[in-house]
Amino acid sequence: MDNTDIYFEQIRSSGCLSYILGCKKNNVCVVIDPEIDKTEEYLMIARDLSSELIYAIDTHTHADHSSACKILRERHGIEVVMHNSTEAPYVDLRTNDGDLIHCGELRIEVMHTPGHTEDSTCLLARDMLFTGDTLLIGGCGRTDLPGGDPEKQYESLRRLASLADHIQVCPAHDYRPAITTLGVEKNTNTRMRFASKEEFVNFMTTRKPPLPRKFHSALEWNRTPIQGTQRGMGEGI
Ligand SMILES: [Fe+2]
Repeated sequence: MDNTDIYFEQIRSSGCLSYILGCKKNNVCVVIDPEIDKTEEYLMIARDLSSELIYAIDTHTHADHSSACKILRERHGIEVVMHNSTEAPYVDLRTNDGDLIHCGELRIEVMHTPGHTEDSTCLLARDMLFTGDTLLIGGCGRTDLPGGDPEKQYESLRRLASLADHIQVCPAHDYRPAITTLGVEKNTNTRMRFASKEEFVNFMTTRKPPLPRKFHSALEWNRTPIQGTQRGMGEGI
C-alpha cells in the first residue's frame, strides 16, 4: 500500500515505543503511546513536520511507565483518546470497538483487544497495526497485572491472527527494530501458536515475572487527574 501521503515516526524511550502518525495533506497527526520523558520530542517532531498534534492516544493503561497524555492535554490542549473501559480520568474521547479516529484523511480503526489489560486496544491504520502490549514481536503482554485476563488475551490474539499476513505490527515495547508482520508472528510467536485456550491460559498463569520497576508510580500517575484542575472525565466519542 502506498503510504507516502502519511507521516510515520517511531520514537524509542528505552524499551518503550511510541509513534507519530499523520496525514500530510491536512497537516495533522496523532501520537500513540506517548511516554512522559519524550513529551518535548513529540512536540518537536510535529513542529518539524509542520503538523498539528491533535490526539494523544494510549492503547491501554500502562503499568510500566508514565504516559505523556496528561501533560499533552493539560499543557498543550491535545485531546486524549483511550478505550471506554479505562480508569484514566483525563480522557476526552472514549472509544469502543469499531470506532474510527479521524486524523485528516487518515482513518484509524479501534479494535478492543482486552487481555493484557481490560482497556487494551489495537489501532489499525491502513496496513499498520499498533498493537500496544496485546501483541509484541515474539511475545505478548503479560496478563497477571491489574485488568489482565489470559482467556481474553487468547481471544484477542486469535482475533489478530484472523487479519492479513502483510499487516505491519507496531508494538508498544521492543528493544530491536520493532516492526514485524502478522504472518511472521503467526509462524514464530509461541503466544500465537497454542493449540487451545487451556494451554495458553496455563502458560500465562504459571509464569510470575517480577512487577515492572515503576509499577506503583506509573499506575498512580496514569489513573489520577492532575492536581488542582477541574478537568477529569471524558465526554465520550
Ligand atoms: Fe502494558
